[in-house]
Amino acid sequence: MDIGTVLCLFALVASCCGNASRDLAKLHTDFFDWQMADSPMSATYRDIHKYNDKIQSSNISMFDIRKDQMVTFHNRLVAIPQTELSKSDLVNYKILDDMLTTYIRGWEWRHFQSLSPVNFLEGPQSYIDSMVQSLPFFTLGDFENYIVRLQKFPQQYEEFKELMLEAVRLNRTYHSHSLSRVKGQFEKLQVAANESQFFWPFTGTLDNNTDISLQKKNDLRVRGAEAVTGLLQALADLSLFIEQEYIPHTRPDIGISSLDGGGDFYEACIRWYLSVDMTAREVHDIGLREVDRIVGNMQKIMTKQEFAGTVREYFQAIMNNTDFFFDTAEDILAEFRHQIFDVIEPTLEDFFVNLPGLPLEVREMPNDGPGGSYSTGSADGSRPGIFWANVLRPHESPNLTMMALSIHEANPGHHLQLSYSITSDTPNFRQKMVSSALYKVPFGFPRYTSYVEGWALYTEYLGEEMKLYRNDYELMGRYSSEIFRACRLVVDTGIHAFNWTRDQAIDYMLNYTAESYDSIAVEIDRYITWPGQALSYKIGEIKILELRRKAEQKLGTKFDIREFHSVVLESGTVPLNVLEDLINDWLDTYPVTTPRPETPICGASYNVPMYISSLISLYLSVCMYI
Ligand SMILES: *[C@@H]1O[C@H](CO)[C@@H](O)[C@H](O)[C@H]1NC(C)=O
Ligand SMILES: *[C@@H]1O[C@H](CO)[C@@H](O)[C@H](O)[C@H]1NC(C)=O
Ligand SMILES: *[C@@H]1O[C@H](CO)[C@@H](O)[C@H](O)[C@H]1NC(C)=O
Ligand SMILES: *[C@@H]1O[C@H](CO)[C@@H](O)[C@H](O)[C@H]1NC(C)=O
Ligand SMILES: *[C@@H]1O[C@H](CO)[C@@H](O)[C@H](O)[C@H]1NC(C)=O
Ligand SMILES: *[C@@H]1O[C@H](CO)[C@@H](O)[C@H](O)[C@H]1NC(C)=O
Ligand SMILES: *[C@@H]1O[C@H](CO)[C@@H](O)[C@H](O)[C@H]1NC(C)=O
Ligand SMILES: *[C@@H]1O[C@H](CO)[C@@H](O)[C@H](O)[C@H]1NC(C)=O
Repeated sequence: MDIGTVLCLFALVASCCGNASRDLAKLHTDFFDWQMADSPMSATYRDIHKYNDKIQSSNISMFDIRKDQMVTFHNRLVAIPQTELSKSDLVNYKILDDMLTTYIRGWEWRHFQSLSPVNFLEGPQSYIDSMVQSLPFFTLGDFENYIVRLQKFPQQYEEFKELMLEAVRLNRTYHSHSLSRVKGQFEKLQVAANESQFFWPFTGTLDNNTDISLQKKNDLRVRGAEAVTGLLQALADLSLFIEQEYIPHTRPDIGISSLDGGGDFYEACIRWYLSVDMTAREVHDIGLREVDRIVGNMQKIMTKQEFAGTVREYFQAIMNNTDFFFDTAEDILAEFRHQIFDVIEPTLEDFFVNLPGLPLEVREMPNDGPGGSYSTGSADGSRPGIFWANVLRPHESPNLTMMALSIHEANPGHHLQLSYSITSDTPNFRQKMVSSALYKVPFGFPRYTSYVEGWALYTEYLGEEMKLYRNDYELMGRYSSEIFRACRLVVDTGIHAFNWTRDQAIDYMLNYTAESYDSIAVEIDRYITWPGQALSYKIGEIKILELRRKAEQKLGTKFDIREFHSVVLESGTVPLNVLEDLINDWLDTYPVTTPRPETPICGASYNVPMYISSLISLYLSVCMYI
């Protein structure tokens, strides 16, 4: 038989007996099940409770075992003929392909930060609260599972030590700034076992349980306290190990490129976070131009307001002016609610179709943290999406940044995008996506931050077209939020590719904000610790704008902003390269597959206001280089 015959036969077999869609669905399920079994804590967070007594193995031998498993999955994937898949299956195919190849490619970088699981942002000292709160404590079995899980942590910390010793041996360690706060974080955990956060399920929750006998409760408490004591000891040992065995060997330079192979490692991190190919130089130059452009926009307003100083002085003057501050947390929450429900909500229909309409609430952030954050609700609407507002310091939070934050966290930012995402018909591996801890990057499953955060930042821009910024102060607030993300492009690449010092990076950021030295220093230490992480916001936004401009040019008067937004949002969370495919596919087949019945073809009902169009062209001409 010649090769042609073999191929023909193969094609015949494939077409008569194969079922691409079914094979793909099976692969999705197997992959997701594997992830749950491999990462028991992730399973718990996703309400899959059959691994509640387990934790992830961190033995170095797992690096190869996991990679080999991904190769096996990938072989199964490429055997599925893409031509036989529906459009939505094809998106799922591409995303699984991206997750597997990202992981397999990342394996080459396993000897870098994957070897150092503890830093001031990640590690066992950072996830106790959420770990304990994610577990159910109803039955005897729930408590037994928890005790078994607690007993397993000390072994994991031994594995962490092995990994970190390997990092020391290979000279591939963090800078000490990534660990300087860690000792204090570990010390806070050292309290009596029965007063530890790990112990709280054995107090009130257990007391109130009516199904477990008193005798059994006492037994659980004794064994629970023993397990917690062992765990606290192991944590203390790990902390001592970091102090004595790791910190003395931390790398002398803050930049990852100072390590052997570090320059290439950084480019791999950029690829992992952005899901587009860009060099550090390209990112850096975009950052510099963006900062210039945004300063130009700010300068126009400052001139109009007859303010003669610099950007930093402007924001300092705002911080000094009590007019811009609310007195109480309640006042701030009320203003957020007013912005979101009275100002923003009525405008959404002009820019979006098929609005999922899932419930949203504004709540006070329970602990300190960033200015705001968002957590998703449930697809059936029984649990609302929540915009958590940090209202701890009313006298330090000026009102001019609030509108940009409402847009970013709530609508049409995170809440709207994630509402489309959780109501889209996507398989579990996407709906409950497991992404790796950031210290492992790029040897881990991606999390598509550049799409999610890029979208949220894009909507801060869109707010101008939606006329959501009610005055120049709110516009200045928006620019301050934008320039922060642009500075990150300059500073992250400055540190990791261009030998910037920490002071140089801090000074650069300070120049464009009213933030204190201390808070900027924490910000910079975050960039030092996670090379490339801070790039995703601005690059994602620029990419979405670039795709929009392309669609505007191609469709001319037929361009409908609502239709564009549907294409971006309705397939759920995707990497930027897949988003680009989706847009190209939409444009190539236009209007064969579009418009949706409820979307008018010609943008007659929607006109971009004049002053905004000029702003778009200003913006886009600056971003042409992407
Ligand atoms: C492929 O499998 C799916 C799900 O099992 C089924 O609904 C469909 O009819 C199958 N198609 C073919 C061509 O066998
Ligand atoms: C990792 O696993 C190997 C065998 O797979 C074993 O020999 C080794 O002791 C383990 N290391 C640790 C730190 O548990
Ligand atoms: C690590 O650095 C030390 C001193 O700088 C050097 O002696 C050693 O050879 C390096 N080890 C590796 C694996 O590069
Ligand atoms: C913890 O145990 C000690 C004795 O070991 C006891 O004095 C203390 O009151 C207990 N604390 C709590 C919160 O139960
Ligand atoms: C600081 O910001 C101003 C704009 O307010 C700019 O002109 C100046 O070049 C910046 N200085 C540095 C060192 O970046
Ligand atoms: C703001 O107030 C501080 C002291 O509270 C002062 O040092 C600073 O010069 C003031 N800045 C501006 C721009 O008014
Ligand atoms: C908030 O900002 C505006 C300017 O946009 C100002 O007029 C208003 O009084 C500010 N303060 C409060 C507490 O709302
Ligand atoms: C960074 O510094 C190292 C050594 O100090 C040097 O070899 C390298 O060329 C510098 N890189 C840049 C981009 O300046």
